[in-house]
Amino acid sequence: MRVLTGIQPSGALHLGNYFGAMLPAIRLQEEEEAFYFIADYHSMTSLTDAVRRRQYTLDVALDWLAAGLNPERCVFWKQSDTPEHTELAWILSTITPMGLLDRCHSYKDKVAKLADGDAGAVNHGLFAYPVLMAADILLYGTHVVPVGKDQKQHLEVTRDIAIKFNHIYGETFVVPEARIQESVALVPGTDGQKMSKSYGNIIELHGEEKSLRKRMMSIQMDSRSPSEPKPDAEKNIAIQLIRLLASTEVATDYEDRLRAGGMGYGDLKKGLFEQYWSHFGAFRERRAELAAKPGYVRDVLEAGARRARVVAKETLEKAKVACGLC
Ligand code: ADP
Ligand code: TRP
Repeated sequence: MRVLTGIQPSGALHLGNYFGAMLPAIRLQEEEEAFYFIADYHSMTSLTDAVRRRQYTLDVALDWLAAGLNPERCVFWKQSDTPEHTELAWILSTITPMGLLDRCHSYKDKVAKLADGDAGAVNHGLFAYPVLMAADILLYGTHVVPVGKDQKQHLEVTRDIAIKFNHIYGETFVVPEARIQESVALVPGTDGQKMSKSYGNIIELHGEEKSLRKRMMSIQMDSRSPSEPKPDAEKNIAIQLIRLLASTEVATDYEDRLRAGGMGYGDLKKGLFEQYWSHFGAFRERRAELAAKPGYVRDVLEAGARRARVVAKETLEKAKVACGLC
């Protein structure tokens, strides 16, 4: 079985990315034929700073490798090193109904967030993004795509596009399935919304100890006094994050103490920081080692692109033959 997923270099990677996408993907590399790429073409829909794109691309690569991605066990590369994605995206766009894209929540949400008069920020790439994502997936004959819940609709679009292409031009693409991490659901950010680079509410995987601590201390809580029992303890953002970071016993202990009353929010947030810091101890060490040899990361991505390209070229050729381009 072939699995594939992409992650955008549009900012620092955070706990939502880690638990929603990276960990499941890293586990899968052991059992399946895995293709993982850095979605730098996608990042262009929201980021227009070349220096930052280059830096984020390196950071994303370091984060994945430090988190346990093994380039011997999977194909790991940068999307723009396989330009076949954009060519297939064009082909697919010609059979994608506008209505399918109009209905995409992520596009509608981003448009709704933009202030009036900022219509220039709504670029065509943002609208067409699910078609590029479909190309990313279909090029590699992907069977399963491990993603967070927020990407479910994009996977449905990919399936619709694949089915439609196969119907019009003959059996060409594998119709993929999403593997949504239901158990993780959406990792909450410091404001309780979905943790997302674009909402300014993230806890990064890598950063300065002081600023990370500050971020955790800034998590929004209510005004109940420490002594008051909290019957809704399981809904607390810090508790939800501790559930992901600590063992079940440790997390249950925090939750029980909060529920019973007597533990202040300050202490709870300090506890969250401790759990976070120890969870990512080995990660930080590996990341520092890798960051000291930038040539290694470049070589890994280049070797990955060479392997990915063999598959991408073959599928593109097949699609071009099917639709009479060659
Ligand atoms: P962001 O929302 O920060 O821009 P991306 O859209 O780049 O994150 O997401 C990359 C991957 O991480 C996707 O598979 C996405 O589903 C997953 N992901 C992102 N945020 C979360 C979250 N808060 N909870 C669970 N999964 C998430
Ligand atoms: N759209 C995904 C996100 O924002 C990133 C992505 C691009 C992706 N292409 C993909 C994920 C293909 C899975 C498969 O998170």
